[in-house]
Amino acid sequence: MKVLVTGGTGYIGSHTVLSLQEAGHDVVVIDNLVNSGEESVRRVAELSGRTPEFHNVDLVDEAALEDVFAAADFDAVIHFAGLKAVAESVREPLKYYYNNLVGTLNLIRAMDRHDVRSLVFSSSATVYGEHNPVPYVEKMEIGANNPYGRTKEQIEDILSDLGGADQRWRIALLRYFNPVGAHPSGRIGEDPQGIPNNLVPFIAQVAVGRREKLMVFGGDYNTPDGTCLRDYIHVVDLAEGHVAALNHVAEPAGIFRWNLGSGQGSSVLEVIRSFEKAAGQPIPYEVTARRPGDLPAFWADATSALADLGWATTKTLDQMCEDHWRWQKNNPNGYGT
Ligand code: UD1
Repeated sequence: MKVLVTGGTGYIGSHTVLSLQEAGHDVVVIDNLVNSGEESVRRVAELSGRTPEFHNVDLVDEAALEDVFAAADFDAVIHFAGLKAVAESVREPLKYYYNNLVGTLNLIRAMDRHDVRSLVFSSSATVYGEHNPVPYVEKMEIGANNPYGRTKEQIEDILSDLGGADQRWRIALLRYFNPVGAHPSGRIGEDPQGIPNNLVPFIAQVAVGRREKLMVFGGDYNTPDGTCLRDYIHVVDLAEGHVAALNHVAEPAGIFRWNLGSGQGSSVLEVIRSFEKAAGQPIPYEVTARRPGDLPAFWADATSALADLGWATTKTLDQMCEDHWRWQKNNPNGYGT
């Protein structure tokens, strides 16, 4: 298939581009590089032996997007492009609503004009909000608790309405849990700008000497060791989940929702121990106050993706930490090394 990948230079996007190429697909990447760089495209090409076509295009620029669609005959689109920092979205909601919603509307309008109606959307488990018990099941009512999450939820609603109104659309909404790790080659990985918000990138920067110690947000939760439980998923497993979903939306019409997670929770302390083993060194940390908005436990019911797509995670927490560490050690300053 000829596949357009929006946000294809980012962390999950770049791994998915590689998996798509390995599965024989022909990939075109668009990205505005606001949170990434073109170096990831070069590294993907080095790994796959095929350079994906790349366009520096912002989805809010309708004319530039139209040019991309006019120049190629796509079979499907995988849509990652979007802003994703929760705290920033609370401070600057308008920026998030404008960028994520307008960008998506422009994309699906361009798809409609050009008769491309197979779409895989990068949603998030954050849409489940605070009111649902674990494990999260796709049929639960959703309700995110911050502007970033609400953009994901609203895009899900828009796409559900579209799929309901026009039977030609084939749409997969993929709700990711906590993606970590890197390609085992150590050539592509997560390259957060500034201070990492997420746990594993922060630990990795402590291990490589860029930060002094990790703050563990809360040690008094009602969990086995007092720290929060999350469903960590290796980014390569996640990328493979996109390829599986793409194959599915190539055929039946409709709208599909799948959790992409392992179905298991790991605590913050378990992640620290696993990373210490991978890096062969202690990770200094201090248990501090809870972070507002954090839930004690958060993991997927991962049975639907297995039943419908034949997809399940294959990699352990130790593999996630080993691969994340290899990437960080080999690229202490990310792609800017
Ligand atoms: C966060 C976002 C979520 C988003 C996801 C994307 C919040 C509240 N949630 O999920 O909306 O979809 O990232 O990857 O921001 N932790 C520490 N110290 C740190 C960083 C994290 O102890 O420096 C803990 C957290 O309290 C949490 C766990 O590590 O228990 C995982 O945190 P994180 O990686 O930020 O992911 P989520 O909070 O699950």
